[in-house]
Amino acid sequence: MVKPVTFTFEETNIDEISTFAGRVAIFVTPDGKLDPAARRVNRLTKGAIARLVEAGVKAGDARVLAYPVGMAAEAVDVICLDKRASIEENRAAGVALAKARGKVAVLVCAGNNNKAAQIVLGLALRDYEFTDHKTDEALADTRSVTVMSTKPSEIEENARPLLAVAEGAFFTRDLVNEPANVLTTTEFADRLVAMKDLGLEVEVLEEDKLAELGMGALLSVGQGSDSPSKVVVMKWMGGETDAAPLALIGKGVVFDTGGISLKPAAGMEDMTMDMGGAGVVAGAMRALALRKAKANVVGLVGLVENMPSGNATRPGDVVTSMKGDTIEVINTDAEGRLVLCDVMHYAQETFKPAGMIDLATLTGAVIIGLGHENAGVFSNDDGLCNKFLKAANAEGEGAWRMPLGKAYADQLKSSIADVKNVGGRPAGSITAAEFLHRFVQEGTPWIHLDIAGVAHVKAETTYAPKGATGWGVLALSRLVEDAFEAKEEE
Ligand code: BES
Ligand code: ZN
Ligand code: ZN
Repeated sequence: MVKPVTFTFEETNIDEISTFAGRVAIFVTPDGKLDPAARRVNRLTKGAIARLVEAGVKAGDARVLAYPVGMAAEAVDVICLDKRASIEENRAAGVALAKARGKVAVLVCAGNNNKAAQIVLGLALRDYEFTDHKTDEALADTRSVTVMSTKPSEIEENARPLLAVAEGAFFTRDLVNEPANVLTTTEFADRLVAMKDLGLEVEVLEEDKLAELGMGALLSVGQGSDSPSKVVVMKWMGGETDAAPLALIGKGVVFDTGGISLKPAAGMEDMTMDMGGAGVVAGAMRALALRKAKANVVGLVGLVENMPSGNATRPGDVVTSMKGDTIEVINTDAEGRLVLCDVMHYAQETFKPAGMIDLATLTGAVIIGLGHENAGVFSNDDGLCNKFLKAANAEGEGAWRMPLGKAYADQLKSSIADVKNVGGRPAGSITAAEFLHRFVQEGTPWIHLDIAGVAHVKAETTYAPKGATGWGVLALSRLVEDAFEAKEEE
């Protein structure tokens, strides 16, 4: 993993601005007001800031003074931010700084901006690179950001939980970017077990245990691979002792060749991201532990590799799920639902959760429907679903609700088993969701998130370079905060 940027928070010290050897970021308002730091830079640079402002700036503008004579700095970033800038605008300022900065240290002169923590989050999230497999060591430099403000402890107190969430998103990105020869099911489980250090309880269920539990659907996916199938259970019990937990379930197919229903060669290398759902669950659990969330949340991931071999599942095979339903496997490439159905059943039997959210790079069809802008959201519970949509919207993570319905479920009728694993081309994402719906118990509020289009993208997004996005970690952490954490009495 690339070392995340380290942040320090300091009381404003006007003298340090002239001696700081890195990039100095100052903020101006659209009406041309300069705060003390900007005034200082203006004086040092003999009026360069005033001239820049007089030439006209509007909110959101980011300008650069490339050679600030009179200062030790390499460059000065001048960002125009309205006094009443929104959370998004503050984050965007941080993103602009992350993009501008290259490899040098940054001094952010945040003044008395009470949303400066959001600048910090924007900077942190965008400042990510996956360089583990580059041999150029310079790329792995540790970088630092100093935030100077009139109330550093207040900003730091607000920023620390946000940085915990960013670290969770980085954990997700690293897992999703990792190639499948490195991130085997065993390596994945080991990285989750290492999170015990953060206070999470972590348990690994091995193949013999999964067989004993009757997880015939999940095991049928991994049986063609030399990597053993595993289910990893992570628990964060930061809430009331007897409060039912929220359960997060992730599809962790470390590589999806399609199995005997082999995928075409072109683009198959992207299927290294088919553990994206498990990656988000892992990142969200990490974020909750790091920010010591006052909630009970369990994260369960099904880790398997979908390979063709002499021992692989064939199209036409019938397997038995832990719930007891028999499944006719029409297409071995529709494997994610076979993994999830057993993990979902196990989670409900074991934890009787107050809510259950599964995340999966489940269907190519969701990319046809929603592109890379929104995840597909399916739910049996308007209350929980609306809370999630609100959280995702607040965090700038695209999410769009799609329908469920009996007519879609009927497409999954099998002539020889209780259900089949594909429902034909029409509404492929919805029939996949209906397959999962069958394994949701009466009274469990449930959301299924099809993240095939958003987990990994070919072009940069607002908060991430191309590749893994970490989509969902921010939204889930916010949902937990808004809907599951014990609120202190006002
Ligand atoms: N992992 C894929 C879905 C996927 C496709 C994720 C593209 C990310 C990008 C999934 O296991 C799959 O292969 N689904 C099939 C289902 C079909 C056989 C019913 C699909 O979408 O084509
Ligand atoms: Zn598949
Ligand atoms: Zn898959």
